[in-house]
Amino acid sequence: MKAIQISQFGSNDVLKYTELDKPELNSGEVLVKNKAAGVNPIDWKTCSGGGAAPFIGELPFVPGWEFAGTIEAVADDVTEFSVGDEVFGLIRFPEAAGCFAEYIAAPADQISLRPEGLPVEAAAGLGLAGLTAWQALFDKGHLQASQQVVILAGAGGVGHLAIQLAKWMGARVATTASAKNHEFLKSLGADLVIDYHNDKITDHIDNVDLVIDGMGGEIGIEALNCVKPGGTLVTLPSVTKDEVIAAGKAMKVKVEPIRVEANSEQLDRLAGLYADRKLALQLADTYPIEKVGDAFDASRSGRTQGKLVLTV
Ligand SMILES: NC(=O)c1ccc[n+]([C@@H]2O[C@H](COP(=O)([O-])OP(=O)(O)OC[C@H]3O[C@@H](n4cnc5c(N)ncnc54)[C@H](OP(=O)(O)O)[C@@H]3O)[C@@H](O)[C@H]2O)c1
Repeated sequence: MKAIQISQFGSNDVLKYTELDKPELNSGEVLVKNKAAGVNPIDWKTCSGGGAAPFIGELPFVPGWEFAGTIEAVADDVTEFSVGDEVFGLIRFPEAAGCFAEYIAAPADQISLRPEGLPVEAAAGLGLAGLTAWQALFDKGHLQASQQVVILAGAGGVGHLAIQLAKWMGARVATTASAKNHEFLKSLGADLVIDYHNDKITDHIDNVDLVIDGMGGEIGIEALNCVKPGGTLVTLPSVTKDEVIAAGKAMKVKVEPIRVEANSEQLDRLAGLYADRKLALQLADTYPIEKVGDAFDASRSGRTQGKLVLTV
């Protein structure tokens, strides 16, 4: 099969489009003929030696944690899926999952059926960002209807899904974005969009129940000032989580770090919301898998609206 593989950490020049053996099928797994794979900041961070690099084992490494495709074989002990099923998911994170490839061996308990109303590219981009948004808002942030939430980096992969899920829950949503994205984010339901280039969020917002911090570092620390006593800030970038947690402690704001986890029940909920038109996934761009370097460049720019997806 064809796959993207790295044999050393580095920039885009380490990404090789190469011929590999199909993965072997172990118990509890399904073999998927892959159609599309989502690209996330964690992919290029890990290929550079940061991100999830400590968890992926020895090189060589086939990047990619989320996919959408068709089941071609099932292990003897797998009863919930059949050959021909259309499936998608976030798998094995943060260990190596090998989704930038033509074939994937996926744990059956981490994937979901792709409903007809959910297109392949959207499904491929929904797993990691959708589950992060869900787990940050509801598992870590315990968001309730009628609460107020601030979502930093609203136009990104996680942010634009988090805005819609928070509105679906019945919360009031403020978010930050460049001016070019304001109409887009209002169309998703955001009640207030702040242009972070020209405005400080602390001039507009205080006493909120929850912040979803998609930026981390100084930006996440600044946002602690918006949280009401007893409120929570969930910080997404793991590289700055310790400094945000320390600042939260000093300000008596609870800071929750997060590492997204595979969860097929939550994937079912996300797919159902999509099929019911309560959740939309914005595709920033799609690239053929051999152009993964271009997708990494787009992600590194930090300016994409929604999700990047590779077609396989
Ligand atoms: N811990 C975990 O499990 C986990 C899971 C998922 C993601 N993450 C991390 O969470 C972060 C966000 O992920 P993502 O996939 O949503 O990223 P992304 O899609 O690459 O985010 C791009 C967006 O960031 C926005 N942005 C850039 N600078 C900004 C600023 N100063 N203020 C507000 N928005 C800004 C841009 O908006 P404009 O163009 O409008 O400026 C752009 O739309 C990344 O660091 C990622 O690694 C962590």
